[in-house]
Amino acid sequence: MRIAIIGTGYVGLVSGACFADFGHEVTCVDKDESKITALNRGQIPIYEPGLVALVATNAKTGRLNFTMDPTTPVAEADVVFIAVGTPSRRGDGHADLSYVYAAAREIGSALSGFTVVATKSTVPVGTGDEVERIIRETNPAADFVVASNPEFLREGAAIRDFKFPDRVVIGTSDERGRKMMGDIYRPLSLNQAPLMFTERRTAEMIKYAANAFLATKITFINEIADLSEKVGANVQEVARGIGLDNRIGAKFLHAGPGFGGSCFPKDIRALTKIAQDHDVQLRIVEAVLAVNENRKRAMARKVSLALGGALRGKTIGVLGLTFKPDTDDMREAPSIPLITGLLDMGANVRAYDPAGMEQARFELPSIEYCEDAYACAERADVLVIVTEWVQFRALDLDRLKGTMAQPIVVDLRNIYRPEDMLAAGFVYQSVGISSSPRS
Ligand SMILES: NC(=O)c1ccc[n+]([C@@H]2O[C@H](COP(=O)([O-])OP(=O)(O)OC[C@H]3O[C@@H](n4cnc5c(N)ncnc54)[C@H](O)[C@@H]3O)[C@@H](O)[C@H]2O)c1
Repeated sequence: MRIAIIGTGYVGLVSGACFADFGHEVTCVDKDESKITALNRGQIPIYEPGLVALVATNAKTGRLNFTMDPTTPVAEADVVFIAVGTPSRRGDGHADLSYVYAAAREIGSALSGFTVVATKSTVPVGTGDEVERIIRETNPAADFVVASNPEFLREGAAIRDFKFPDRVVIGTSDERGRKMMGDIYRPLSLNQAPLMFTERRTAEMIKYAANAFLATKITFINEIADLSEKVGANVQEVARGIGLDNRIGAKFLHAGPGFGGSCFPKDIRALTKIAQDHDVQLRIVEAVLAVNENRKRAMARKVSLALGGALRGKTIGVLGLTFKPDTDDMREAPSIPLITGLLDMGANVRAYDPAGMEQARFELPSIEYCEDAYACAERADVLVIVTEWVQFRALDLDRLKGTMAQPIVVDLRNIYRPEDMLAAGFVYQSVGISSSPRS
């Protein structure tokens, strides 16, 4: 089948490469000339494990193409996916739908023959209605169906998530639309992925509800971590103890510096705004957002306390900048408010991240970037682990200690065992684990 994807970012590029790998003919479209030029040269503009090889293999077969002009790919497509960004609108937190609507207009003027227009971007309930209206207005004769097909992939594990999803949600009540979308995703049925067909508005709601629920789990365990620290409990064991209960589940129960990233913060903001517009108050979701915002900045105070509350003139090494490992995405990363807080308190910050430093330089221009973890620890009064990249999990502790001004580690991801760090001569603080355990 023929597919056009409008927007070749994290979602569009991964989806396009995976669909091509299933055997479909895919054209990825993007307005960003530098992205398309790079892709046509075989360079991948984002860091995502496995993506370089997947794109190269499928581009070579001719099944995966890149262009800035949507006209021909949209006209030839059976399904056109909208995968453009839906960032928070400046000032009010609503989802900014201007990219989606612009894409809808471009699609409308190029459609030819029966086509499904499927929205992969995360959009507020009812956006599908407006996309349909725009396309109809642009091209009254077009034969099309607008479906919602929210994407659940996680950066860092995006290819696996796309190919082995827990479920695929397809929101349309149109029979031709359901059949076409079923055909597109048929290769996944080999992997037993359930296709779930719903009404369009329900599919749009599922995506926001899923993200809000996951963010609630994270925020819940973060609050339990704070209490655990105070009462002498170990939050990792608490998380395991509750997570083994199937009704709760073990995932998204890792205490840390608060959630960030390209999706959770903006989607949760947008969900609270949708609710307000409908005179519904989502108090749990609002609390999750507020608690998480406070937490990110509070992490700077946690680092300050590790140095007795005075950071002026001190050197802080920060390991990990991206919002999670295995991505170069810096959008709303917890490292940003943390480092800004440290700088506000007068500290000098040196940082290292395996993939995110190029992006980070835009957000954090006034810190020093280092070439590896040990260089980052040099002369540091405290080393803060912010992102749990696998290469930070087995650092040479003697070497680290030898290079630091003071052997103090604040581990915001709990990747080391307190007893190992103490044995290696470090003052070690983690999240939700009391530094003086009681029996
Ligand atoms: N990143 C994730 O992990 C993830 C996961 C699930 C869902 N989503 C959702 O998917 C959507 C896309 O997210 P992303 O992270 O891939 O965004 P992104 O910012 O990485 O990519 C969006 C791309 O769309 C392009 N674009 C914008 N308008 C265009 C137009 N009219 N024509 C062609 N290209 C256009 C931009 O140049 C950009 O390259 C968002 O709604 C997001 O919430 C993201």
